[in-house]
Amino acid sequence: HRVLKGFPADFLWGSASAAYQIEGAPFEDGKKASVWDNFVRIPGKTFKGTNGDVAVDHYHRYKEDVALMKELGLKSYRFSVAWSRIFPDGKGKVNEPGLKFYSDLIDELIANNIEPVVTIYHWDLPQALEDEYHGWESRQIIPDFVNYAETLFNAFKGRVKYWISLNEQNVFTQHGWVLATHPPGKKDMKLFYQVNHHANLVNAAVINKFHELNIPGEIGPSFAYTPNYSIDSNPKNVLAAENAEEIFANFWMDVYCQGVYPIVALTYLKENNLMFDMEEGDEELLKSAHPNFLGINYYQSSANAWNPINGGVQIGEMNTTGVKGSGGEQGIPGVYKKVSNPAVDRTNWDWEIDPMGIRIALRRITSRYRIPVMITENGLGEYDKPEESQVHDDYRIAYLSSHVKSIQEAISDGASVIGYHTWSYTDLLSWLNGYQKRYGFIYVDQDETMEGSLKRIPKDSYYWYQNVIKTNGQEL
Ligand code: BG6
Repeated sequence: HRVLKGFPADFLWGSASAAYQIEGAPFEDGKKASVWDNFVRIPGKTFKGTNGDVAVDHYHRYKEDVALMKELGLKSYRFSVAWSRIFPDGKGKVNEPGLKFYSDLIDELIANNIEPVVTIYHWDLPQALEDEYHGWESRQIIPDFVNYAETLFNAFKGRVKYWISLNEQNVFTQHGWVLATHPPGKKDMKLFYQVNHHANLVNAAVINKFHELNIPGEIGPSFAYTPNYSIDSNPKNVLAAENAEEIFANFWMDVYCQGVYPIVALTYLKENNLMFDMEEGDEELLKSAHPNFLGINYYQSSANAWNPINGGVQIGEMNTTGVKGSGGEQGIPGVYKKVSNPAVDRTNWDWEIDPMGIRIALRRITSRYRIPVMITENGLGEYDKPEESQVHDDYRIAYLSSHVKSIQEAISDGASVIGYHTWSYTDLLSWLNGYQKRYGFIYVDQDETMEGSLKRIPKDSYYWYQNVIKTNGQEL
């Protein structure tokens, strides 16, 4: 029986959210539209046409939400800032009431001994920048983003110690430019790689700005890591798994942590006429940026098999490129195909439940990059039903406790993990799945009619996590 290391004394037991998914109030106090405010209005894009106009009304109920965090004993709370609250047109004059909302939220958290973890960008690009220069498709986004981030750094320095530059760059670029399921809803592989390169430059420039300004604290991106396995020991399948890891994981993490694109992936892009434009100075910029930690959002792993060049599985309508949760077979002929893993269970949304995957992820990152990790998301989306004002979500407790245990194993293996943020704190709007797919510790009475009472009900998992925090992870 192995004796496991305990969690560090200052471990950040947290929970997470994102602006568009919780706030509501899309046009209040000077805020203007983000690309999401408009995208959700396109028929057929979201589940039953749900949108975030009300969401869970956190904009007006943040004090109630923070009071419940205090009772839960949360050490940290990760939330994102809506860029178009701070700069309604993406740039120009600061919208003071928008800034004040986050300033008040931060004060409220600190007054309750909760460490704020601020995500600068969780997908809600100001529509004005999309209209002006197609947002991420133009390098003009680099100075505008840095200006926005600098405004936050200066406004919140001393109060906020942990910053996330970009949330899941791999997800918003693939959904936005390959799958067309997120704004701007395009399917253009080559443009996707160009956009992604711009996002890498933004990430590096923001990290450098943070360090240049000597803001006390730490900064890093959050990557959606789905570790790749081979379905078996057939060397062809092993090679396919390595391909998948190279083009869907190392392709981002190498850039974040080492400032270089992985060689095999670059060769693949060049051979397939997908190579993006690099300008003079880009390579130097990527190399010069050093995140203090890597944020990891972990939900599941992915099993891979060989995909023949002739007659192989193609990028699907709804799925391609290893994007999590797409289900079924998908792939790129001659590179890989994702297959169903018979060794693990699945959620009702077909996401594979693999607690050991988070340990494998942490060990790979530790060996390859030697960088501390903050788990910025991990959680289970399920249908929850209140029974007499209680929600018995034992399935969520089982999911979370097995993953926390696995993180403890990884720490014992030598990984450095500074915090764990469940997805999500309250129930919230799932971008594409409405309110039926719930993740929170706190049930919110809101649904597809968007006319719920918005009453908050702590679920059984809330009380379970309260005890986990109290015992610093000793009682799972
Ligand atoms: C992550 C995002 O991709 O997964 C969250 O950062 C998102 O914003 C979460 O809500 C769960 O995804 P989904 O599709 O189940 O809501």
